[in-house]
Amino acid sequence: MDHSNYETEELISAKSIAARVETLANEITEFYGDTEKLVVVGLLRGSFVFIADLVRELKMPVEVDFLEVSSYGNSTESSREVRILKDIRGEIKDRDVLLVEDIIDTGYTMHHVQNMLQSRGPKKMEVCALLDKPSRREVDVNVRWIGFEIPDEFVVGYGIDYAQRNRNLPYIGKIRQLT
Ligand code: IMP
Ligand code: MG
Repeated sequence: MDHSNYETEELISAKSIAARVETLANEITEFYGDTEKLVVVGLLRGSFVFIADLVRELKMPVEVDFLEVSSYGNSTESSREVRILKDIRGEIKDRDVLLVEDIIDTGYTMHHVQNMLQSRGPKKMEVCALLDKPSRREVDVNVRWIGFEIPDEFVVGYGIDYAQRNRNLPYIGKIRQLT
């Protein structure tokens, strides 16, 4: 795919995202109702806008941490190799943890991250992903909250990039290649 000759077409508006984030946050608040302090772990870089909006709607004490793993590079093909580029700073043993991801595609990234963090012995760990492409799934992952199911399209915006561009779009758009 050409990294410069494309346009974006709105798929999910900023308004719909905001409404959905509020609903998700209410469900999460209820689910972790009795937690002392929730550890919200965002997967960099794609989840940074989502996590910022989400934590501001959570009505409980939270701590925010970030994890960065490698996946796509500049290609639209999902890579199965997952390496830790930046680990979280805090301890999660015996803590309540919420993992926040931008998109669940083949599932390999989340599968790997879940196994890795689970081995550190959190009390309760669940996943909230903004987007899900169920038709692309290759490995089963346990995702408790999903913002929107989307078709097999390459999307950008609201933190999500295409070759490091378009993260600053306020809405989610799909890429349309121009020739
Ligand atoms: P998975 O390991 O195949 O589930 O891939 C998940 C990762 O691929 C996500 O964290 C995204 O960063 C990236 N990804 C998947 N689909 C898209 C897309 O449509 N646009 C941008 N990044 C994507
Ligand atoms: Mg990612």
